[in-house]
Amino acid sequence: MGTRLDVAVLIGSLRRDSYSRRLASSLEVLAPASLKLFPVDFRNLPLFDQDLEESESEPTEWTRFRESVRGSDAVLFVTPEYNRSIPGGLKNAIDVGSRPFGASVWDSKPAAVASVSPGAMGGFGANHHLRQSLVFLNAPTMPQPEVYLGGASSLFAGDGALINGRTADFLSGFLVAFERWIRRFQSD
Ligand code: FNR
Repeated sequence: MGTRLDVAVLIGSLRRDSYSRRLASSLEVLAPASLKLFPVDFRNLPLFDQDLEESESEPTEWTRFRESVRGSDAVLFVTPEYNRSIPGGLKNAIDVGSRPFGASVWDSKPAAVASVSPGAMGGFGANHHLRQSLVFLNAPTMPQPEVYLGGASSLFAGDGALINGRTADFLSGFLVAFERWIRRFQSD
């Protein structure tokens, strides 16, 4: 264990009782002490509009969002699948963070992706659409272990806790691997 790493968590769903939100909370609890997970909200991020870029009317929410991500050591995406891709709000956040050209917050930022769905495929389509953007954005994204959690409706108890110990063990292993992955990109 080295210095504490701060990980910005982007939750793809805005829904209050979201499975993705519950998964993100479980990951926060399961994370080793050396890995601090904190959600970065993008609910109020105005839609990206190139006309507003670097102008006096550039939304302050854009700047604040970019600063939150830039100040973190890594980014963890926890997302549902919408129509075999990622939800529009999450894509907007990614687009906002990628600009202005040459100052993307994603560049060289270690990342990991976890997808979750009530369906059997665990959001595989969303997970890989997201990875496609992260390749372009030069965010080194952990290849393994992959997290596609299917059957979300039976994963969590009423209080949001994970029901199955094996799922918790699997996710703990994912977090340990992610910490190792992040440290590969630390310069000190
Ligand atoms: C969905 N859902 C869904 N599920 C899936 O496995 N593949 C898909 O392509 C889609 N498409 C989709 C589109 C839209 C617009 C909605 C609202 C829903 C179902 C989705 O997985 C389910 O609603 C989850 O509960 C959403 O995630 P959260 O909000 O629980 O995190």
